[in-house]
Amino acid sequence: MRKTVHVELGERSYDVVIGPDLLAESGQLIAPLLRRKRVAVVSDENVARLHLESLRDGLAQAGIDMVALELPAGESTKSWPHFERTVEWLLEQKVERNDVVVAFGGGVIGDLVGFAASVLRRGVQFVQIPTSLLAQVDSSVGGKTGINAPQGKNLIGAFHQPSLVLADTSVLGTLTARDFLAGYGEVVKYGLLGDAEFFEWLELNGPGLSAGDMATRVEAVARSVQMKADIVARDEKEQGDRALLNLGHTFCHALEAATGYSDRLLHGEGVSIGCALAFELSARMGLCPQEDPSRVRQHLKTMGMKTDLADIPGELPGAQALLDLMGQDKKVVDGKLNFILARGIGQAFVTSDVAPSDVISVLEDALAER
Ligand code: GLY
Repeated sequence: MRKTVHVELGERSYDVVIGPDLLAESGQLIAPLLRRKRVAVVSDENVARLHLESLRDGLAQAGIDMVALELPAGESTKSWPHFERTVEWLLEQKVERNDVVVAFGGGVIGDLVGFAASVLRRGVQFVQIPTSLLAQVDSSVGGKTGINAPQGKNLIGAFHQPSLVLADTSVLGTLTARDFLAGYGEVVKYGLLGDAEFFEWLELNGPGLSAGDMATRVEAVARSVQMKADIVARDEKEQGDRALLNLGHTFCHALEAATGYSDRLLHGEGVSIGCALAFELSARMGLCPQEDPSRVRQHLKTMGMKTDLADIPGELPGAQALLDLMGQDKKVVDGKLNFILARGIGQAFVTSDVAPSDVISVLEDALAER
């Protein structure tokens, strides 16, 4: 049931191994990267409580010793104070240039630890062991690392590719249904942006995947990672095609800002609503068939995901205020907003040619349904 996706980036190439029970084999898989049999693992308290001992055992199978740092769980960990603590802890552990640092957790841990590895002794190798669906299909692959600034999310960081990614699909079993479905928002995104056949496959297999079918989970993660690997190989530093991965994200970032990056809306939930809105906007502009937005929303609803602005609890600002929040997005170039729109399911493209009045009317309609 195991699959391996290769990310081809010349001397920075690496494998993403996907399958159940990989923690048990982590030692054997990581050993070829090591000069000495010792790794420094950074995790969060929740992941550590559930899975750190399995990782320790798996590493020990190959005679690898492990030291571990546990950070608090949650987005606020992606900040200077925890970054400083992590870097200093790694130095205290005497991590050397040829050692390997392991990021063991969801997107927050992967981003923070990857960034710490990028600056430690001017760059050490790191291995991603992503434990959330969102991290397995998106943030652990592609080398974007960083922390949040008071001015906005992910504004401080570096491109630093991992040396190996181990996506153990068994650990997804301990996620809450809400976290799992939030990650599924990023899976659907891949079908919507570039592979209509994958979207059809998800329409058929999504419910089984959500119920825990392991073969389907491995297949969905592997197909998502393959799409990301292909895009990253073409455009590592996001000068072009990589922006397609931001389908749904312009709307999502405005909604996350409007809800204060709180529990009211998880990132993957914002992506799901954002994808639905991006298809509404594409249909309104006459770019994609009129029936596509309802097909997208139908699948998201069948999966029990957040799909509409009405699914976000509490107050939301008006359409103009949401548009203004989009203007603060880091995808603004020369004052123009970049949108990822679609000519159909599986046919996304990047454009800055969008009339604000069209965005406003899509948002007004969506707000009116609340
Ligand atoms: N999450 C979008 C990217 O990695 O480019």
